[in-house]
Amino acid sequence: MTKLVILEYPDPRLRKKAAPVTAVDDAMRQLADNMLETMYAAKGVGLAATQVDVHLRLIVLDVSEERDRPLVLFNPELLKLEGSGAGEEGCLSLPGIYDKLSRATHIRLTALGRDGEPFEMDADGLLAVCIQHEVDHLEGKLFVDYLSELKRQLIRRRLEKERKQRSTAGEPRAAARAGTGAATPRTPSGASPPAL
Ligand code: NI
Repeated sequence: MTKLVILEYPDPRLRKKAAPVTAVDDAMRQLADNMLETMYAAKGVGLAATQVDVHLRLIVLDVSEERDRPLVLFNPELLKLEGSGAGEEGCLSLPGIYDKLSRATHIRLTALGRDGEPFEMDADGLLAVCIQHEVDHLEGKLFVDYLSELKRQLIRRRLEKERKQRSTAGEPRAAARAGTGAATPRTPSGASPPAL
Protein backbone atom coordinates (compact mmCIF):
# COMPACT_ATOMS: atom_id res chain seq x y z
CA MET A 1 0.00 0.00 0.00
CA THR A 2 1.09 3.56 -0.63
CA LYS A 3 0.52 6.65 1.44
CA LEU A 4 -0.86 9.48 -0.69
CA VAL A 5 -0.41 13.26 -0.42
CA ILE A 6 -3.45 15.09 0.99
CA LEU A 7 -4.26 18.41 -0.72
CA GLU A 8 -4.64 21.35 1.64
CA TYR A 9 -7.01 24.32 1.54
CA PRO A 10 -7.13 26.57 -0.45
CA ASP A 11 -5.74 24.29 -3.19
CA PRO A 12 -8.03 24.81 -6.23
CA ARG A 13 -8.00 21.05 -6.97
CA LEU A 14 -10.20 20.59 -3.88
CA ARG A 15 -12.91 22.43 -5.87
CA LYS A 16 -13.14 19.89 -8.72
CA LYS A 17 -16.33 17.90 -9.04
CA ALA A 18 -15.68 14.15 -9.03
CA ALA A 19 -16.88 11.87 -11.85
CA PRO A 20 -18.71 8.59 -11.23
CA VAL A 21 -16.65 5.40 -10.98
CA THR A 22 -17.57 3.36 -14.06
CA ALA A 23 -16.12 0.01 -12.96
CA VAL A 24 -15.03 -1.19 -9.52
CA ASP A 25 -11.92 -3.09 -10.58
CA ASP A 26 -8.60 -3.98 -8.92
CA ALA A 27 -7.16 -0.54 -9.66
CA MET A 28 -10.11 1.07 -7.86
CA ARG A 29 -9.76 -1.29 -4.88
CA GLN A 30 -6.03 -0.50 -4.74
CA LEU A 31 -6.83 3.21 -4.70
CA ALA A 32 -9.33 2.64 -1.86
CA ASP A 33 -6.68 0.72 0.13
CA ASN A 34 -4.13 3.49 -0.40
CA MET A 35 -6.70 6.05 0.73
CA LEU A 36 -7.42 4.02 3.87
CA GLU A 37 -3.71 3.82 4.68
CA THR A 38 -3.41 7.59 4.14
CA MET A 39 -6.47 8.26 6.33
CA TYR A 40 -5.23 6.04 9.19
CA ALA A 41 -1.74 7.57 9.04
CA ALA A 42 -3.26 11.07 9.29
CA LYS A 43 -5.49 9.92 12.18
CA GLY A 44 -8.59 10.88 10.21
CA VAL A 45 -11.96 9.14 10.23
CA GLY A 46 -12.82 9.80 6.60
CA LEU A 47 -11.18 10.69 3.29
CA ALA A 48 -12.55 11.51 -0.16
CA ALA A 49 -10.65 10.76 -3.39
CA THR A 50 -10.80 14.48 -4.19
CA GLN A 51 -8.46 15.11 -1.24
CA VAL A 52 -5.74 12.97 -2.83
CA ASP A 53 -6.25 14.62 -6.24
CA VAL A 54 -8.22 11.77 -7.78
CA HIS A 55 -11.49 13.16 -9.07
CA LEU A 56 -13.65 10.06 -8.90
CA ARG A 57 -16.61 9.36 -6.61
CA LEU A 58 -14.96 7.29 -3.89
CA ILE A 59 -14.88 7.84 -0.14
CA VAL A 60 -13.38 5.77 2.68
CA LEU A 61 -14.29 5.94 6.36
CA ASP A 62 -13.67 4.35 9.73
CA VAL A 63 -15.48 5.78 12.74
CA SER A 64 -14.75 2.79 15.01
CA GLU A 65 -12.74 3.33 18.18
CA GLU A 66 -10.46 0.38 17.39
CA ARG A 67 -9.83 1.64 13.84
CA ASP A 68 -10.66 -1.77 12.45
CA ARG A 69 -13.95 -1.17 10.61
CA PRO A 70 -12.98 0.32 7.24
CA LEU A 71 -15.83 1.33 4.98
CA VAL A 72 -15.33 1.85 1.23
CA LEU A 73 -18.11 3.55 -0.76
CA PHE A 74 -17.99 3.99 -4.54
CA ASN A 75 -20.53 6.39 -6.08
CA PRO A 76 -22.23 7.22 -2.75
CA GLU A 77 -25.55 8.97 -3.19
CA LEU A 78 -27.65 10.42 -0.39
CA LEU A 79 -31.27 9.33 -0.71
CA LYS A 80 -32.68 10.80 2.48
CA LEU A 81 -31.52 13.40 5.00
CA GLU A 82 -33.41 13.78 8.28
CA GLY A 83 -33.07 15.75 11.49
CA SER A 84 -30.43 18.29 12.21
CA GLY A 85 -27.74 18.63 14.84
CA ALA A 86 -24.66 20.78 15.39
CA GLY A 87 -21.24 19.31 16.03
CA GLU A 88 -17.56 20.20 15.78
CA GLU A 89 -15.93 19.12 12.54
CA GLY A 90 -12.42 19.06 11.22
CA CYS A 91 -10.91 18.15 7.85
CA LEU A 92 -7.60 16.57 6.85
CA SER A 93 -7.33 19.26 4.16
CA LEU A 94 -7.49 21.98 6.86
CA PRO A 95 -5.08 20.69 9.52
CA GLY A 96 -5.83 21.94 13.03
CA ILE A 97 -9.02 23.80 12.06
CA TYR A 98 -12.28 22.83 13.78
CA ASP A 99 -15.64 24.52 13.79
CA LYS A 100 -19.22 23.84 14.65
CA LEU A 101 -21.76 23.25 11.93
CA SER A 102 -25.14 21.69 11.45
CA ARG A 103 -25.73 18.42 9.57
CA ALA A 104 -28.59 15.96 9.12
CA THR A 105 -28.58 13.40 11.94
CA HIS A 106 -30.06 10.45 10.01
CA ILE A 107 -29.29 9.61 6.42
CA ARG A 108 -30.03 6.87 3.93
CA LEU A 109 -27.69 6.30 1.03
CA THR A 110 -26.89 4.03 -1.82
CA ALA A 111 -23.38 3.11 -2.98
CA LEU A 112 -21.31 0.37 -4.58
CA GLY A 113 -19.18 -1.72 -2.23
CA ARG A 114 -15.67 -3.13 -2.76
CA ASP A 115 -17.25 -5.91 -4.82
CA GLY A 116 -18.96 -3.39 -7.11
CA GLU A 117 -22.40 -4.48 -5.91
CA PRO A 118 -24.94 -1.75 -5.13
CA PHE A 119 -26.41 -1.56 -1.64
CA GLU A 120 -28.41 0.78 0.57
CA MET A 121 -27.54 1.73 4.11
CA ASP A 122 -28.74 3.93 6.95
CA ALA A 123 -26.36 5.95 9.07
CA ASP A 124 -26.68 8.26 12.04
CA GLY A 125 -24.42 9.95 14.56
CA LEU A 126 -20.78 10.43 13.64
CA LEU A 127 -20.98 8.15 10.61
CA ALA A 128 -23.83 10.24 9.13
CA VAL A 129 -21.80 13.43 9.63
CA CYS A 130 -18.70 11.88 8.06
CA ILE A 131 -20.54 10.62 4.99
CA GLN A 132 -22.13 14.04 4.40
CA HIS A 133 -18.71 15.70 4.80
CA GLU A 134 -17.05 13.31 2.33
CA VAL A 135 -19.85 13.51 -0.24
CA ASP A 136 -19.44 17.31 -0.08
CA HIS A 137 -15.75 16.84 -0.99
CA LEU A 138 -16.81 14.97 -4.14
CA GLU A 139 -18.82 18.08 -5.11
CA GLY A 140 -15.81 20.33 -4.48
CA LYS A 141 -17.32 21.61 -1.26
CA LEU A 142 -15.46 22.07 2.04
CA PHE A 143 -16.85 22.40 5.56
CA VAL A 144 -15.54 25.97 5.80
CA ASP A 145 -17.97 26.88 3.00
CA TYR A 146 -20.70 26.70 5.66
CA LEU A 147 -18.91 29.36 7.74
CA SER A 148 -18.87 33.14 7.23
CA GLU A 149 -16.56 34.74 4.66
CA LEU A 150 -14.71 36.50 7.49
CA LYS A 151 -14.08 33.23 9.31
CA ARG A 152 -12.87 31.62 6.09
CA GLN A 153 -10.38 34.46 5.53
CA LEU A 154 -9.01 34.06 9.07
CA ILE A 155 -8.66 30.31 8.59
CA ARG A 156 -6.91 30.79 5.26
CA ARG A 157 -4.44 33.24 6.77
CA ARG A 158 -3.76 30.97 9.72
CA LEU A 159 -3.09 27.95 7.48
CA GLU A 160 -0.80 29.99 5.22
CA LYS A 161 1.17 31.21 8.24
CA GLU A 162 1.50 27.70 9.61
CA ARG A 163 2.60 26.35 6.24
CA LYS A 164 5.27 29.06 6.06
CA GLN A 165 6.49 28.22 9.57
CA ARG A 166 6.55 24.56 8.66
CA SER A 167 8.70 25.15 5.58
CA THR A 168 11.17 27.49 7.33
CA ALA A 169 11.51 25.21 10.33
CA GLY A 170 11.86 22.20 8.04
CA GLU A 171 9.72 20.28 10.49
CA PRO A 172 7.63 17.33 9.43
CA ARG A 173 3.95 18.18 9.23
CA ALA A 174 2.91 16.23 12.35
CA ALA A 175 5.51 17.91 14.54
CA ALA A 176 4.61 21.36 13.24
CA ARG A 177 0.97 20.69 13.92
CA ALA A 178 1.59 19.50 17.47
CA GLY A 179 3.51 22.70 18.11
CA THR A 180 0.47 24.83 17.30
CA GLY A 181 -1.62 23.13 19.95
CA ALA A 182 -2.13 26.30 21.98
CA ALA A 183 -3.98 27.98 19.12
CA THR A 184 -6.04 24.93 18.24
CA PRO A 185 -9.60 24.95 19.54
CA ARG A 186 -10.32 21.88 21.62
CA THR A 187 -13.48 20.28 22.90
CA PRO A 188 -13.94 20.51 26.69
CA SER A 189 -12.67 16.96 27.09
CA GLY A 190 -9.38 17.98 25.48
CA ALA A 191 -9.84 15.56 22.58
CA SER A 192 -9.87 16.82 19.01
CA PRO A 193 -13.12 16.53 17.06
CA PRO A 194 -13.00 14.14 14.10
CA ALA A 195 -10.91 15.16 11.08
CA LEU A 196 -12.40 14.08 7.78
NI1 NI B 1 -12.57 16.81 4.81
